[in-house]
Amino acid sequence: MKNLVLLALISCLVACGGGGGGSNHQTSSTYASSISSDSSSFSSVPALKDLADFPIGMEVSAADQPRSIFIEKSQLPTINKHFNSLVAGVIMKMSFLHPEEFNYHYTDADDLADYAAENGMILHGHTLIWHWDSQIPDWMKNYTGDWQAMLDDHVTQITAHFAGKVVSWDVVNEAIDPETESGFRESIFYQKLGSKYIENAFIAAREADPAAVLYYNDFAMEASQRKLELMLAMLDDFKERGIPVDGVGFQMHTNIFDPSIEQIQASFKAVADRGYIVRISEMDVTVNRFNEQFFYNHIKELQKQRYKNIIKAYLAAVPAAQRGGITFWGLVDGESWVNELDPDYRDWPLLFNDDYSPKPAFFGVVEALLDE
Ligand code: G3I
Repeated sequence: MKNLVLLALISCLVACGGGGGGSNHQTSSTYASSISSDSSSFSSVPALKDLADFPIGMEVSAADQPRSIFIEKSQLPTINKHFNSLVAGVIMKMSFLHPEEFNYHYTDADDLADYAAENGMILHGHTLIWHWDSQIPDWMKNYTGDWQAMLDDHVTQITAHFAGKVVSWDVVNEAIDPETESGFRESIFYQKLGSKYIENAFIAAREADPAAVLYYNDFAMEASQRKLELMLAMLDDFKERGIPVDGVGFQMHTNIFDPSIEQIQASFKAVADRGYIVRISEMDVTVNRFNEQFFYNHIKELQKQRYKNIIKAYLAAVPAAQRGGITFWGLVDGESWVNELDPDYRDWPLLFNDDYSPKPAFFGVVEALLDE
């Protein structure tokens, strides 16, 4: 069943002209020797999407948001060249899609879906349920009626609206918390409904769009053994009871230092061994733990190796039929969410410099994909 869904997703990509199944024409060592700086020209570098048989994705901004693809058009050639899958960083979250109890706002996300379709890309939906305070609409925070019925309606309406436009969803995002006794994040959803809201969201999403691939998405599952175990226990319980989860998204907001590649690979494998699709869903690799002012060349090289090794670990741990793809959380360093956190801190976590030239990290990804 899951493989069928994934096959459908990949054949949609090919039919849409997004091209997943490119063959690897050049070996990684050729690339390493011929193109290795971060000043390579646009046309001389390979398109990432041509190097993989699974979706290669990008987090984008849309509507009137900062760095929207409909406003900052200079980013489009790079996005269109390298990626065949998009995810909205902000505009498909709860407060955007469902700003008032009886008002769903779809036009901005529909525009993004149209952009994806017109450019041969798939659209991944992020996210139906997430605890992040500013992304929960005020009316929901103050809701006094039947919370389960209300959340069911939220999931059903949105998933049904995007059926045929969104191929996969992060149904529930970041619901596990290794710091709590229950192991679940004590979000407003948990406080109202206990952990039941999680399974009910998957059930409602499957009913509303049986073709969509349904993911549980979370961060640091590769870094915290307890978090991984809690998530696996949830999956095992769901499997036993027939709750329709198809895959797991490892956000992979990581860094050049830790955890070890072995631990990351083992985390992917634990999920893949249970038969689930595995996605790297929000990848970025920070480098600046010690608050340096410069992005030194030796750090660029470490970042390149880290990207390469994590993607190689993914390819080694996850069989081809279970690869949901890799999505990078932003295009250029200057616009990464990590640079919005603190004005006194900056980092260089992504694949491209601010002028869209590829960084060594980009070539780390190329080399990992070509090594396959
Ligand atoms: O909408 C306003 C805009 O009108 C205003 O001009 C601007 C001023 O800075 O703020 C805008 O909203 C911000 C939005 O990003 C767009 O930049 C929000 O305040 C800010 O909270 C929002 O941050 C996003 C965050 O999720 C919360 O939604 C980040 O861009 C996005 O990268 C981040 O993504 C999360 C994933 O969803 C889940 N996993 C972790 C990941 C990183 O935190």
